[in-house]
Amino acid sequence: MQGRDFTSIIDVSSEELAHVLDVSLRMKDDGVRSSLSGKTLAMVFEKPSLRTRVSFEMAMKRLGGSAITLLSHEIRMGEREPVKDVARILSRMVNGIAVRTYGHETVVELAEHASVPVINALSESEHPCQALADLLTLRERFGDLRGLAWTYVGDGNNVARSLAYASVMSGMRLTIVTPPNFALPAEDIMRAAELAGDGSVTQTTDAHAAVRDAAAVYTDVWASMGFEAELENRKQYFQPYQLNADLLSSAPKDALVMHDLPAHRGEEITDEVIESTRSIVFDQAENRLHVQQALLALLLQETS
Ligand code: CP
Ligand code: NVA
Repeated sequence: MQGRDFTSIIDVSSEELAHVLDVSLRMKDDGVRSSLSGKTLAMVFEKPSLRTRVSFEMAMKRLGGSAITLLSHEIRMGEREPVKDVARILSRMVNGIAVRTYGHETVVELAEHASVPVINALSESEHPCQALADLLTLRERFGDLRGLAWTYVGDGNNVARSLAYASVMSGMRLTIVTPPNFALPAEDIMRAAELAGDGSVTQTTDAHAAVRDAAAVYTDVWASMGFEAELENRKQYFQPYQLNADLLSSAPKDALVMHDLPAHRGEEITDEVIESTRSIVFDQAENRLHVQQALLALLLQETS
C-alpha cells in the first residue's frame, strides 16, 4: 500500500482492508510505534474536528513522525491559490496529506496533483477512516466480521456510504434504514454490490424491522457539517428514526450501540441509549487512533 492514496474505502482491496485491521490490532496490542521517523503529515481542515485531528496527530507522534495542522482560514485552499498548487507545494515539503473538506472533488483533485499519499479525513461523500475504526471495534467484539449483521439508521450520508462499501468488502450484512428521500442513491448501493467481497447492503424505511437481527445499531447526525441549515426541516422526517429505547426494543437484547460522534443527544440518539452499557462509541473513537496509525505506517513508510 506504500505511496497510495486513501480517498475512499474502495481505494483498497478487501484483502488490504483486512490487512489494515490486522496491523491496527497488532499496533494496539504491542504498541509498535517507530516506523515514520522524520516524516511529516500535513492535515488540511476545512471543517471542525476533535477525533480526526487528535488521532492523526497522535498517530504520527507514536510512529516517530510529526503533523502540521492547516486550518481553512489560514490557507484558503482554492481561493488564495488553486487546490492543485496546494497539492504540489505540500508534496515538496511533507510526506503525506490528510484533508477534511466539503466536496469530494477537492480530495480527488489534491490526490491527482500530489506526489505523496492523500488521505480522506471526511468529505461530503465519504468518511473512510471512520469506517476502518468501526470495523476494528466490531472485530474486537465479535472476532470475525464475516456474516455479521448490523444496521445503520438515519441519514444516507458520507458515513453510511463508507460503511456500505466496507460492509460488502468485509463480508458483513448491512441494513441501511433512512426516512424516505434520505436514502443513499441507488448507484451507491449498486456500486457496493459490485465490490469484491461476500457482504451485502440493503436499504429500507422500516426502522423497527431493520434492527431485528442487528448485532449492532449505528447512527449519525441528522444534518452533517455543511447541511446544518436543513436541520430544523429535517427533524420531522428523522424523528421516527431516532435511536432510542423504543427502537432498541425491536433489536436483539445484546445489540450494541454505535455512533461516530459528535452526537446530538435528543436528536438522532437519546442520552439514555448513548450512555447505556450497550454503547461502544468511545471504543470507536479510540480506534480512530489505532487504524490511522496502521494506515499511515502502510501508506507512508518506505518498505511495507
Ligand atoms: N468522528 C469524527 O470524525 O469526529 P471529528 O469530527 O471530531 O473528527
Ligand atoms: N456525517 C457527519 C460525520 C461527522 C464526523 C458529518 O459529515 O458532519
